[in-house]
Amino acid sequence: MAVLDQLTSQQAIDLENKYGAHNYHPLPVVLSRGEGVYVWDVEGKKYYDFLSAYSAVNQGHCHPEIVAAMTVQAQTLTLTSRAFYNDMLGKYERYASELFNFDKLLPMNTGAEAVETALKICRKWAYEVKGIDENEAEIIVCENNFHGRTTTIISFSNDPVARKNFGPYTNGFIKIDYDNLEALEQTLSNNKNVAGFLVEPIQGEAGVYVPTEGYLSKAKALCEKYNVLFIADEVQTGIARTGKMLAVDHENVKPDILILGKALSGGAYPVSAVLADNAIMNVIQPGNHGSTFGGNPIAAAVAIAALEVVRKEDLAKNAEVLGQLFRSELSKFIETSPIVNSVRGKGLLNAILINDSEDSDTAWNICLRLRDNGLLAKPTHGNIIRFAPPLVMTKDQLLDCVSIITKTLKEFE
Ligand SMILES: Cc1ncc(COP(=O)(O)O)c(C=O)c1O
Repeated sequence: MAVLDQLTSQQAIDLENKYGAHNYHPLPVVLSRGEGVYVWDVEGKKYYDFLSAYSAVNQGHCHPEIVAAMTVQAQTLTLTSRAFYNDMLGKYERYASELFNFDKLLPMNTGAEAVETALKICRKWAYEVKGIDENEAEIIVCENNFHGRTTTIISFSNDPVARKNFGPYTNGFIKIDYDNLEALEQTLSNNKNVAGFLVEPIQGEAGVYVPTEGYLSKAKALCEKYNVLFIADEVQTGIARTGKMLAVDHENVKPDILILGKALSGGAYPVSAVLADNAIMNVIQPGNHGSTFGGNPIAAAVAIAALEVVRKEDLAKNAEVLGQLFRSELSKFIETSPIVNSVRGKGLLNAILINDSEDSDTAWNICLRLRDNGLLAKPTHGNIIRFAPPLVMTKDQLLDCVSIITKTLKEFE
């Protein structure tokens, strides 16, 4: 077989199993093409993408304006490293900083790198601005968080699969319950060394847990009271996914540090960023942090195009309207169906809770059947299935998807 020969699905799966590390457990479907809300497998079968690469492809697959920006830039200049300036980075930094209302942006590539960056900025701010004694800074995080998989980040995860046998772990984190303001206030008042509070505005990986209304704004107020940085990880919830540009916008919260990734490029390229105002970002000086690819001209061009698409096509509004329709249609179905316990979410970041034990494989089997019926989704934890289609979906397409989902669920009643 020549390197680039056309493969069947089974051949592609066999190759990955044999030559790839087994660090994922993909649904058995092999995709070779995408356009808008659709993807096709190598045999030509068409599916609705109802995951959007974990909310990275908010703008739809291969959005022509993003692909055009990427192609032009790829033919012009791809990488300079930050040893030299390039003529795209500053334009992107200004565009994104103004859009999200911050003084400055620090460009990285993946979500986990951006989280690491935010943690470093927060610690340095703690020592140089807040005045915490060296090596004593603590950052509060939440139970069941998901912020990526570096050694530091898994140090404060409570997912045993992500953690076990990867120690020794990084110190300096205090874990409290999510959506619990008393726990936050108690920890803040008991510990003078707290530098920051890192939080997902909705816990995506954990199973789309939407906190009580007012949680984010009150948590932000507590952080202000105790001179602690409120760090919002919007890698999954950001860029219009929840019906606003940022999920914190639902509560008019401006984080001290904002972390973005995934849909910052519309899924075309790995682009992540950390944004903050000068009083915080200026603690970073040459040599403190960096990445060969972070801020490269392709990333800059792609991110500007991807954000422009979100703005021009008003994807936040579409996510808001279609999200409400999705939850109301699913709620109607749940009233008469024993297979689903509940539907929850915001905008087009939603999940259903399957009525079965956490360790059952019902959710996985439902996802296999959804695939057979032309829709791709994946369980998150145990019996929860996350539904996050591209935000360019139309109302008719969404209703078509609802009928595929309800028809499939009925098969499991
Ligand atoms: C909230 C959140 N933070 C960080 C990450 C890590 O992003 P990446 O996989 O690009 O490293 C994710 C990925 O799902 C995420 O959902």
